[in-house]
Amino acid sequence: MLLLLLNLYLANEPGRNGSQVYYPTILWRFVQVDTLFETTMHISDELIQLLRQARRVVVLTGAGISAESGIPTFRQAQTGLWAQYDPEELATRAAFRRNPRLVWEWYAWRRQLVQQAAPNPGHLALAQWERLVPGFTLITQNVDGLHRQAGSQRVIELHGNIRRVKCFDHDHPAESWSEAETPPRCVQCGSFLRPDVVWFGESLPAVGLHQAVTAVRNADVLLSIGTSALVQPAASLPLEAKSRRVPIVEINPQPTPLTSAFNFVLAGPAGEVLPAIVQRIHLNTVS
Ligand code: OAD
Repeated sequence: MLLLLLNLYLANEPGRNGSQVYYPTILWRFVQVDTLFETTMHISDELIQLLRQARRVVVLTGAGISAESGIPTFRQAQTGLWAQYDPEELATRAAFRRNPRLVWEWYAWRRQLVQQAAPNPGHLALAQWERLVPGFTLITQNVDGLHRQAGSQRVIELHGNIRRVKCFDHDHPAESWSEAETPPRCVQCGSFLRPDVVWFGESLPAVGLHQAVTAVRNADVLLSIGTSALVQPAASLPLEAKSRRVPIVEINPQPTPLTSAFNFVLAGPAGEVLPAIVQRIHLNTVS
């Protein structure tokens, strides 16, 4: 079967303060695809065999994996954060300059949601899987810290962590702050404090992104879980894997723009699919 695939490659250029800014470049090409196996909640023996044999497993997660912990996703109709709030007003440096109090308070509300949440069976299954495999890399776009809370060790947080705070001017980290002023001020330089997350227009952490791309290129299998595959450069990681003939698996109750590129598609909630997968890998491992 011939499918038209959108391949996105990562190019990098030096950015502000010597950091790396990653721009996706786009190349359309035809790729012979003869391995589109299934789109179903049924988890085949073939898939379990592939996962059981994989020694270098890479998992990319998005907001969907935390949905069953009660944390809103971004793009789902009505309930998604970007369906209710304008990212231009809340998630850019310009927005913070215009209205730092609004932005600080919105993230304070989200930080509270995250602190009240607990890892769900999907997070816990990934942490359990990591303990079964020598090379396991978890790349997440999520800022909620629930993967580490679930026990995952090797986690690359591509978009930062909402539980951390740093200052706007110099990225000085802040462990604690006075609530006398909103936003609070950095004790080192006096600039406003802000959440340590990646806003639109900002560069991703260069080391983390490099580690992520390296892991993807060397993977035996990649799973993309709970992401709409719309935000770059994370969205190009499954296609980068595919271009290296790494089998790719999607777990998402809804189709995404990349669904047709995946070798296996499990159309169900991560909190149900992942424990089922890990249980079967584990059974096969010990039998
Ligand atoms: P989105 O909100 O764009 O997509 C969430 C995906 O999760 C959707 O495809 C849902 O179908 C799926 N989903 C919902 N419930 C699920 C469940 N129980 N199990 C599995 N999947 C489920 O979130 P992301 O793709 O993570 O960036 O968004 C990427 C980035 O866009 C975020 O990191 C954030 C946002 O702007 C920044 O803030 C920089």
